[in-house]
Amino acid sequence: MRSSIRRRLLLAFLIVAVAVATAMSAYFLTELEDYGLSKIEERLESEQTILAAALSAQITASGGRGLTETQAGILATELALTGHGSASHIRVLDRAGVSIADSTGADIGIGYAETPEVARALAGETAYAQRVLPDGRIGISIAGPVTVDGRVVGVVHNSAATFSVTTLVRDYRVQLAVAVAVFVLTTFILTELLARWLSAPLRSLAQGAVAFAQGDHSVRVRPFGSTETRAVAEAFNAMADEVQDALMELHEEERRKSRFVSDVSHELRTPLTAIRGAAETLLDGDVPEEDARQFLSTIARESERLTRLANDLITLQRIEGATGELPLSQVDLTSIAEQAVAALAPLVEARGVNVVITGKAAPVLGDRDRLQQVFSNLIDNASRVTPEGKQLTIEIADDEDQVVARILDEGPGIGEKDAVRIFDRFYRAQSSRDRGSGGAGLGLAIVAAIVSAHGGAITAAPRPEGGTVFTLRFPAVRQE
Ligand SMILES: Nc1ncnc2c1ncn2[C@@H]1O[C@H](COP(=O)(O)OP(=O)(O)OP(=O)(O)O)[C@@H](O)[C@H]1O
Ligand SMILES: [Mg+2]
Repeated sequence: MRSSIRRRLLLAFLIVAVAVATAMSAYFLTELEDYGLSKIEERLESEQTILAAALSAQITASGGRGLTETQAGILATELALTGHGSASHIRVLDRAGVSIADSTGADIGIGYAETPEVARALAGETAYAQRVLPDGRIGISIAGPVTVDGRVVGVVHNSAATFSVTTLVRDYRVQLAVAVAVFVLTTFILTELLARWLSAPLRSLAQGAVAFAQGDHSVRVRPFGSTETRAVAEAFNAMADEVQDALMELHEEERRKSRFVSDVSHELRTPLTAIRGAAETLLDGDVPEEDARQFLSTIARESERLTRLANDLITLQRIEGATGELPLSQVDLTSIAEQAVAALAPLVEARGVNVVITGKAAPVLGDRDRLQQVFSNLIDNASRVTPEGKQLTIEIADDEDQVVARILDEGPGIGEKDAVRIFDRFYRAQSSRDRGSGGAGLGLAIVAAIVSAHGGAITAAPRPEGGTVFTLRFPAVRQE
């Protein structure tokens, strides 16, 4: 069985509390017992000494003839004096160890010579004895000689009994049990409260973690309690933020992918429908020579469109998948723009557009072929919208630590919304032209992908004087 922190704390506390309480009580009770016994011993001794001295004096005063003769008078007074109000049991024994007086009035005539402390007292010493009585009490005795002129004439034996710790515990076991129960209960309640208080932050943390694991990624825990639990809670929240972000990104990526797939299939359907229509009509036969040519050229044109679409998609996929893997070298944007223009010269001339390149700037780090593709796509687009006889300008210039290239045309310009969206795949601005005359709408997506793979940026904006300007920015290579 796995136990909670609360239960472990509780168990540990109970064990410690009971152990400490037991040890302390045992220690103090023993000390108390020893102290009590030594006090009794002192009292017995002083009573014994006084009585022995008094007896000795009496005997001497009465002519020193022996203890028996003076017993009645002296002992009655002395014993009444010392025996009353004290728990001492005093006996006076004659020279043979036979009791001749007793503070309780009993036991007269009994011989005690065999008792060890009495035997030693008869020999002239003062002796102590301690024994456990049949009723469980501890008996303490002291025996001392009564001497007259150096002779032992009798013995004063003084004894008392006291409760030992053992009997105390036995007699008070009900009260003790109640005390122990109260103690344990109090400890239990206090520990329970303490454990609850200590484990509350951990419990809230555990609840948060479980909820999170079950899919509630918005759950966060309140950092409270000790420094440690607070640190764990904060770490948990940070982790939860990160996981949530990652999941959202993943979700977004998935959404983009599925949109891409549906866009692609949509784009494929148009040329395929055209091809199928033309092919079916031709198969039906009986098509006039001139119409047949028309259908065949539709098939050729649409097939070419499909090929281009496939190529563009592959290009896009390669660029986006190969971030950081472009073969970079220091290149000059002006010369790249010139090359692009040269390659497109027949097309641009056929459209009756005049292209001008101006300016020079610091080199940038880039892939020459890809950058040429950027200019080609932009020039292709711009020359397509520029009316015959108008001009298309490419300006290259330094701008602090960047190189800026601007492609300016005199076309219809661009709407604010379109300026952002034209870089999306398959996006074509409504105003410019329909699918029949244009491409797939991948050109600017490829441009944007290449630019961002170079650490650059591209924006489109309408020109105040009409037309559109595309602005490219690349980090310049620092010239020493
Ligand atoms: N210079 C421009 N002036 C105005 N609109 C433009 C200009 N260049 C691009 N556009 C708009 O942006 C759209 C997207 O251009 P993009 O190059 O991505 O696709 P496309 O030229 O239609 O097809 P593709 O380049 O794949 O053959 C174009 O359809 C056009 O509407
Ligand atoms: Mg284009």
